[in-house]
Amino acid sequence: MNEQVLRTIDSRRDASVSGLKQFLSIPSVSTKPDHAADVRRCAEWLAGQLKSSGLAAEMRETGGHPVVLAKNTHKPGRPTVLLYGHYDVQPPEPLDKWVTKPFEPAVRDGAIYARGAADDKGQVWAHAEAIAAWQKNGGLPINLTMLIEGEEEIGSENLERFVRENRETLKADIAVISDTNQFARGVPAITYGLRGLVYCEVFITAADHDTHSGLYGGSIPNPANVLVELLATLHDRDGRVNIPGFYDDVQSLDAEERDAWRKLPFDEASWLKDLKLDQTFGEAGYTTLERRWARPTCDINGLTSGYQGHGAKTIIPSTASAKVSMRLVPNQDPMKIVTSFERTLRERCPKMVKIEFARHGLAGPVLVSREGKAMRLAAEALTEGFGAAPTLIREGGSIPVVALIKSTLGIDTLLIGFGLPDDRVHSPNEKFDLDALHKGTRTAAVLYAKLAEW
Ligand code: BES
Ligand code: MN
Ligand code: MN
Repeated sequence: MNEQVLRTIDSRRDASVSGLKQFLSIPSVSTKPDHAADVRRCAEWLAGQLKSSGLAAEMRETGGHPVVLAKNTHKPGRPTVLLYGHYDVQPPEPLDKWVTKPFEPAVRDGAIYARGAADDKGQVWAHAEAIAAWQKNGGLPINLTMLIEGEEEIGSENLERFVRENRETLKADIAVISDTNQFARGVPAITYGLRGLVYCEVFITAADHDTHSGLYGGSIPNPANVLVELLATLHDRDGRVNIPGFYDDVQSLDAEERDAWRKLPFDEASWLKDLKLDQTFGEAGYTTLERRWARPTCDINGLTSGYQGHGAKTIIPSTASAKVSMRLVPNQDPMKIVTSFERTLRERCPKMVKIEFARHGLAGPVLVSREGKAMRLAAEALTEGFGAAPTLIREGGSIPVVALIKSTLGIDTLLIGFGLPDDRVHSPNEKFDLDALHKGTRTAAVLYAKLAEW
């Protein structure tokens, strides 16, 4: 390891936070059309930063939000690393729950608070700082290709085509992603499994317009009543998902993995306390970690119908809709699941109303090998960066590009995340610990040195 690189990183601790603040000030909310210009401005800003580190960086069009593509000068004989991240963020709502504004980053108690702080701008920034430090001290020891996209939070729909059409440009020996968590404070982690995702919206419509619930109620179909009945059929009394074939391809957990997870220092009581809950809920026969990491789900994520304002309004709504997500585990196939979901609800839906669907994103579940040289090198880098050996974990969240990288580029991904489980990603008051930013930056710098020897 080039010690001068680490000294540069240490000397830039404050400068790094100012850079991240600029990044976090741009409201790159990918799901909202009225933020499209902000999303583009964020990509431009990031490309500019990478350019000033001496990378060839450009914005590339995708049909949706642009991606930022950057490379150092590739030299023969060195391994090529594809570094992926995302610069888009989730919507900040509900706004009144934020202590400080979501796009006015603020530092308190050793953490930076803003939407995207941990997911994923802070983690991308750790890499950007590590790259800058290497570039100031003789250049990166590896061939680096950076792909930072703007549509991860909406399912990476346009990325598939971009990756397929740019296979040569993106060709690499291994992919690296920092968009996951440490297991706990002081316990860094390498993630070897992610759940997949199917995100659907169901629309029920009946009458042409909302009607007086006294004049019409009891004599015409009510889409809200129909919708809740349909949604209630999605689980059986034991909490298992009641969609034909849903569990057919689910890989069961082996005893060895279950044992390893039981030994992890998971503090369920404090995990519940942070949520102000006194009990967990889930499929019988599984621990909380098993439920979160290795069992599939079906959950309503949003529910809309009728009058939503203050007080009462007596109407029969003319429409009702629900957003439903299903988290998938190996070897469930997103296409098979979404098809069965739609067919099943269509069959169960009474003919007196109209049922329609929209698909908002599909992602395959991921399981990567826990062995191999790259895994060992990543473990060494985390040990040096965080001063503690990493543990091997799975996560319940999804990153659509991982399955895509495997299927189109044929390579595995190292998931080394710097977030903490209490960072409140997607929630109000999202944060990223400054300690994680610093240690993550050091880890990234060490990882590049290690991968150079690979
Ligand atoms: N970075 C998260 C996923 C994540 C977070 C994995 C923490 C492991 C630990 C990612 O940005 C995310 O939120 N993904 C979406 C994907 C979806 C929109 C296709 C998700 O999981 O909901
Ligand atoms: Mn993310
Ligand atoms: Mn996210």
